[in-house]
Amino acid sequence: MEATHSSNEHSINVHHHIGAMPMFYRLAKPCLFFFICAIICLVPPADAALKTYNFDIQVKNVSRLCHAKPIVTVNGMFPGPTVYIREGDQLLVNVTNHAQYNVSIHWHGLKQYRNGWADGPAYITQCPIQTGNSYTYNITVTGQRGTLWWHAHILWLRATVYGAIVIMPKEVTPFPFPQPYSEASIVLGEWWHADVETVVKTANKLGLPPQSSDAHTINGKPGPLFPCSEKHTFALEVESGKAYLLRIVNAALNDELFFAIASHSMTVVEIDAVYTKPFTTQALLIAPGQTTSVLVKADQSPSRYFMAARPFMDAPIPVDNKTVTAILQYKGIPNTVLPTLPQLPAPNDTKFALNYNSKLRSLDSPQFPANVPLKVDRHLFYTIGLGQNMCPTCLNGTQLAASLNNITFVMPKVGLLQAHYYNIAGVFRTDFPDNPPTPFNYTGAPLTANLGTTLGTRLSKLAFNSTVELVLQDTNLLSVESHPFHLHGFNFFVVGSGIGNFDPKKDPAKFNLVDPPERNTVGVPTGGWTAIRFRADNPGVWFMHCHLELHTMWGLKMAFVVENGKLPEESILSPPKDLPPC
Ligand code: C2O
Repeated sequence: MEATHSSNEHSINVHHHIGAMPMFYRLAKPCLFFFICAIICLVPPADAALKTYNFDIQVKNVSRLCHAKPIVTVNGMFPGPTVYIREGDQLLVNVTNHAQYNVSIHWHGLKQYRNGWADGPAYITQCPIQTGNSYTYNITVTGQRGTLWWHAHILWLRATVYGAIVIMPKEVTPFPFPQPYSEASIVLGEWWHADVETVVKTANKLGLPPQSSDAHTINGKPGPLFPCSEKHTFALEVESGKAYLLRIVNAALNDELFFAIASHSMTVVEIDAVYTKPFTTQALLIAPGQTTSVLVKADQSPSRYFMAARPFMDAPIPVDNKTVTAILQYKGIPNTVLPTLPQLPAPNDTKFALNYNSKLRSLDSPQFPANVPLKVDRHLFYTIGLGQNMCPTCLNGTQLAASLNNITFVMPKVGLLQAHYYNIAGVFRTDFPDNPPTPFNYTGAPLTANLGTTLGTRLSKLAFNSTVELVLQDTNLLSVESHPFHLHGFNFFVVGSGIGNFDPKKDPAKFNLVDPPERNTVGVPTGGWTAIRFRADNPGVWFMHCHLELHTMWGLKMAFVVENGKLPEESILSPPKDLPPC
């Protein structure tokens, strides 16, 4: 194993002075009252700052694994810039597209209350930004704090167009866990030797899955288990005895990942920008789209330790099974010291996966309550299926597809949110069924006949402020597989999950309605089901899809139309002037 680097080749990503209590609050005494009032009256409150970013979408040559290729980037950076905001801030991101592809950016996990215009999925809430054009995403960050991320939301461009979002709590509000000395983002990704769009196009012509990636990456770097990675190893320098907050993001396209640090345990404190009841673990599981923040104490003998990630796959489906590594490097330790590898769970360790997910609980404190809907207005049951449709020009005369309730979603040519807002007929229908067309033994023996799906741009309409329970049921159509489902515009509560077929008579009695994990992306277990609940209090058109890019592309997606409420402040905001035309 080759693991010698000079430290100036590492990207050491350490930010000091986080969350310091401003002196202003400590000095506030009655005698200062009028002075303070004068300041508050003149300027916006300190918790509503305006943050502006410029994102230039540009193609850049980047070299990994001994090959250089042009990739689409933001500002020439890979991964792209981290967006730092504070709860309550207004965020303006001016995106200018200099690449040959049409582009849109999604702010994954930001709720965008009444403001789907700033959500980003192409042809769902906006038409993409065409080459040479700009669009400013105008986002207000309310009621969320922690780690999220942003990514391109068209084609497979998110392979290289992604970055972390850090939402600091309001200045007066400390973390509900011990203040770390410092923090760093750990963004997990996937890398292909070849041009990703070409790989995908070729596969679609054949009707087959594209080849899997050639490496995983941590902050864009594959690490020393891969060739030519001397310059492409991420290292995090730590001081002995200090605690660090690692903000871990899974930006991979198709792989759920295990992550661990040699000899160091991790305390999970937040997922998808929601605080959790802290628990300690040797390894964690993170699906594409999810984020996990952990506290790590540099409490081992000063040395160099590998952080490592590799896929979890418990279905008979090929994946890129290679291990990415980065280095946790104690200050003062020379780069000649060989790091040790952590023990990751076995790639098919279902038991670890189920057990890990069962430990996730909302913090549910008086300050951060878990407002789980207790009464359900609308019960939805969606089956997840793979399938095969006719394709005369494809290799076998068929092409692979994926569906929800046997419907393969067809992308429209204009944005669904515009079509809804302006009442444009003929773009979509609102008859997405609440149940599968015919019940069957979903998770019995593999089903390999009658694999055709129905095509359509069909949405499900939800009344404003109604409470929804959605059971996502995996099936054995072609194969069982675990599917990370992401809902735009909302967080939901994961009230239950199980293996086999969901039993509407027995399973609801076992739901956790007290402190279930609240998140925006949840893994439906292989050959099992997951039940989520949310309140449809955000009017707009909201995409829901499997966050495996392969399955999204094959049609494993749909959208909800959440109607306006009665009051103006319960209605969709008017669209911005610079909203891209189709
Ligand atoms: Cu992170 Cu619709 O995606």
